[in-house]
This record gives sequence, structure tokens and C-alpha cells, in this order.
Amino acid sequence: MSGKNQTIISEFILLGLPIDPEQQNLFYALFLAMYVTTILGNPVIILLIRLDSHLHTPMYLFLSNLSFSDLCFSSVIMPRLLQNMQSQVPSIPYTSCLAQMYFLLFFCDLESFLLVVMAYDRYVAICFPLHYTAIVNPQLCLSLVALSWVMTTFHAMLHSRLMARLCFCANNVIPHFFCDMSALLKLACSDTQVNEFVIFIMGGLILVIPFLLIIISFVRIISSILKVPSTRSIHKVFSICGSHLSMVSLFYGTVMGLYLCPLANNSTIKETVMTMMYTVVAPMLNPFIYSLRNRDMKGALGKVFHKRTFSFSL
Ligand SMILES: *[C@@H]1O[C@H](CO)[C@@H](O)[C@H](O)[C@H]1NC(C)=O
Repeated sequence: MSGKNQTIISEFILLGLPIDPEQQNLFYALFLAMYVTTILGNPVIILLIRLDSHLHTPMYLFLSNLSFSDLCFSSVIMPRLLQNMQSQVPSIPYTSCLAQMYFLLFFCDLESFLLVVMAYDRYVAICFPLHYTAIVNPQLCLSLVALSWVMTTFHAMLHSRLMARLCFCANNVIPHFFCDMSALLKLACSDTQVNEFVIFIMGGLILVIPFLLIIISFVRIISSILKVPSTRSIHKVFSICGSHLSMVSLFYGTVMGLYLCPLANNSTIKETVMTMMYTVVAPMLNPFIYSLRNRDMKGALGKVFHKRTFSFSL
């Protein structure tokens, strides 16, 4: 730090979305509606799974964990985005910015690990149906979830520590709608080589390995079902893998596109839309993709409503 007349920055300006001022209100309403859907949809899933004892199976417990993670992920971004859209000077204090980055990384990784765990669960259920309850026992479920939490904590801590070491002095305008790690790195005055190296290595470990594991489990599921091909088995492949695959491609496609090809993204509109996909759209759609197409889940919903109307009519 050469310390001429450099001031240490205590807050950042979040430029937000590249939206015309006339359309600001329209987008505000849209994002508010999306956030409300997220914070209503996900708790409904968690509650349904809690209430219905038929749904106390590993698959649904993982789904409930995923819903919890979605709820938090969205809540790290959306309130700040909505607040900034209404304010004249969209500033965010330095510490809040680091905290937002920490929790974003945390829930993004958790999402990634839970998708792997869910794919593994389906793989065992389909390829080893007779040993399923012995393999995916409550201890294993708890350990997998605990391991995911430990790894995400480690990863988010590592990046936050490395970010906190950096000095921000001249420019404090983040051309983004949240405190994005790569956007912050571009503003730093100190050397960011270590950070970039760690992002590259850890990004590979945290995104590419889970993604490959998911693909492997899908390939094995599909090949095991197609060994005895029938219309019923084909239907089964689609119903089991369809929802998982659409979620996985939505999440990993956009995250990997953004973080592993940072040189390619020179168009901010495209970048913003892709970021929106995994930060806003994916957490909102998750409960619908996984549950509403699912017979058990609909049954549980029906039962809850049936009970309600029954007790009201008494
Ligand atoms: C997450 O999964 C674990 C292990 O299956 C389960 O015990 C726990 O209740 C789940 N948490 C939530 C919030 O659903």
C-alpha cells in the first residue's frame, strides 16, 4: 500500500441491475413476487415433509434440507436487491458486503452438495433397491448433511478470509446486484493473485467434482433401468431424472458458466441474466420442480387440506 492520498473504503455502491428507470417499478414488482413465492413455497415443502410421516424418508429429508438452503440463499440476496432498487444511493457497508459474500458462498455450496447427495440417494434406490434401507440409513444421511455443512463452512471461510486481507482504496462501485466475489476482486488495490488461484482450484473442487458425480449417478441410473426396457421403465427414468436433471442443469450450467469462464463474460446483460438464474429463479423453482410433479408430495398436500376442511366443517 503506497498510501499517498488513498482512503480506505468503508462502503460499496451496488449498482444493481441494468434496468431503465421507467421499468424500475415493473421489475421491482416482479422480483418482489418472485421472492414472496420463494419464501412461501420452500417452507410449505419443509412443513409438509415434517407433518406427513410417510415422507420421513432420506429423499424427502434431503429435499427439505434443499428447501431450507434455497430459502436462505434467496434471503441473502433479495431483500438487499429490493431495498437498493428503491433507494437513491444504493450503498452497502464493507462488513455487510463481506458477510453477504460469505453467506452466498455458503448456501451456494450447500445447494451444490445437497444436489449430489440427492443424486446418490436416487442412484442407490434404483440400482440397489434391496439394500437401499441398509445403505442409506439415518446415520449416513446425517453424516452426509453434516459433511456438507462442514465443507461449505470451510470454503466460505477461506474466501472471506482471503477477501478481508485485500485493500480497497480507489473505486467502490460494484457493477452488480450483490457483493459478488469476482466483482470485488476487480476493485481491490492489492494483489489478488492468491485469491484468483484459490477460486480456480476450489471452484474446480466444489463445482466440477459434484457435477461429475451427479452425471455419473444419472448415467448409471439410466443404464440400469434400460437393461430391462419397457414403456414403464422409460417413464420411470423421466419421472425420476427429469426433475433432478432440470434443476442440476439450471444450477450448475449457470454457476459454472459464470465462474469457470470469467474471461468469456464481457456482456453484462448476459452475465446478469445468468446470475439471476441460479440466485433468484432456481431457489424459487426448486420446490415446484421437485414436489409438484411428485405423487407423494401432492398426496401429503391433499391430506393437509382435507384435514383442514374437515375440521372446519365440524
Ligand atoms: C436435513 O437432513 C437431516 C438428515 O437426513 C435431517 O435429520 C434433518 O431433519 C433435515 N433438516 C431439515 C431442515 O429438513
